Amino acid sequence: MSMLKFTAAAVLVALGSTAVAQTRSAVKGPDLGQPVSAEDLAKWDIEIPPSGKGLPAGSGTVAAGEAVYAKSCQSCHGPKGAGKPNDALVGGVGNLAGKGPALKTVGSYWPYATTVFDYVRRSMPVSAPQSLSNEEVYAVTAYLLHLNGIIGADDVMDAKTLPAVKMPNRDSFMSLYKSRK
Ligand code: HEC
Repeated sequence: MSMLKFTAAAVLVALGSTAVAQTRSAVKGPDLGQPVSAEDLAKWDIEIPPSGKGLPAGSGTVAAGEAVYAKSCQSCHGPKGAGKPNDALVGGVGNLAGKGPALKTVGSYWPYATTVFDYVRRSMPVSAPQSLSNEEVYAVTAYLLHLNGIIGADDVMDAKTLPAVKMPNRDSFMSLYKSRK
């Protein structure tokens, strides 16, 4: 390559990269809204771990939960959580070790009552998630636990009593983290 050609090529390369740099900084990204505010984020930052840490104030009875269930859940989960058209929420306790098809429900499968609260508050009813008050979620959780024979008809669920509920299938789960040294 002659010196002249070499220089010209070098200049072009230099110009080219400047042009790219300029284009990049000048390109405006798609308009994706605005930075999320702490207030908006708080509405989604609602997870309740197995320990129940962060459970809200309020409480719910089995009787109040029966009413919530009839109004907001029964159309999809059937009378008394029996299922149809969607998942059964009641029954099957102790059936998972058998040979037939497993009936996995809140009662037979779920290891923590606190997760029922978390799941229902976050996602149910499917058609209107997060539309229930905390009291309604405590109540309908109490109702489901009662239907599964896990708590009594007069038990009240709140931030203290819910984490103390021992689910029937709790000990069938094992933690990889604990068993690995
Ligand atoms: C419009 C129908 C609909 C309504 C109403 C509804 N659910 Fe559900 N529910 C579903 C569907 C569908 C699933 C399965 C979701 C999935 O697998 O991702 C589900 C799953 C669940 C589960 C998990 C079941 C499991 O063990 O896998 C629970 C618990 C539950 N619903 C509770 C409720 C409660 C409590 C209410 C009332 C407050 C309610 N649902 C109202 C449709 C509904």
